[in-house]
Amino acid sequence: MNKDLRKFSNGDILISPSLLAADFCQLGSQITEVAAAGAELLHLDVMDGKMVPNISFGVPVIESLRGRSELLFDVHLMIDRPLFYAEKFVKAGADHVTFHIESSDDPAETIKEIHRLGVTAGMSLKPGTPAEALFPYLDDLELILVMTVEPGFGGQSFMADQVAKIAAFKQEIARRGKNIHIEVDGGIGAKTAPAVLEAGANILVAGTSVFRHPEGMAAGVAALR
Ligand code: DX5
Ligand code: ZN
Repeated sequence: MNKDLRKFSNGDILISPSLLAADFCQLGSQITEVAAAGAELLHLDVMDGKMVPNISFGVPVIESLRGRSELLFDVHLMIDRPLFYAEKFVKAGADHVTFHIESSDDPAETIKEIHRLGVTAGMSLKPGTPAEALFPYLDDLELILVMTVEPGFGGQSFMADQVAKIAAFKQEIARRGKNIHIEVDGGIGAKTAPAVLEAGANILVAGTSVFRHPEGMAAGVAALR
């Protein structure tokens, strides 16, 4: 499996199932099943109860999953101090690290640190933050993660008003001629995927629609494709 995001083009459509919607009693078998379903990435949502009003899982869980999976580990840090914690997550097995502009650490320093650790860097923004807030960092990033729900919980409804933000990033990335991926996260399923792909997104994060698809994960991934 390709674990380097730079080897994919931002014209490739990739699926990153969010583990947050998995059955936490059976994580090992669930990630084996989701890989067999045809996902390229595994989206790992880390929450610290400070940057978002929820707490999920952290370094030890990712470290233990690493031994069971060859998927590209797409780590979404919804934490206040990404600069401080980046190294621990990369040592645990992250192949890519995304952090939020709303965190407390300096974005340029955090991007530099993620790259120093030998993985790709992404930045995300909450629905209320405009696309332009990330433009100063764009040239140094491999990925932009557009939240289509308020971060913190799985299973929420897709916010259609964020589609314009995806298009704004797509336009700016094309203008600069860069291979920067646009990932979308929150309420993504077969009904909402067409609009975000049309706007220029190429990586779909999907929790509920894959891990909790009534006919199983393979049907969830197939429905997105
Ligand atoms: C929300 C997380 C998402 C979440 C998506 O804060 O970043 O990755 O798991 O879940 P669904 O696909 O169920 O909206
Ligand atoms: Zn996420």
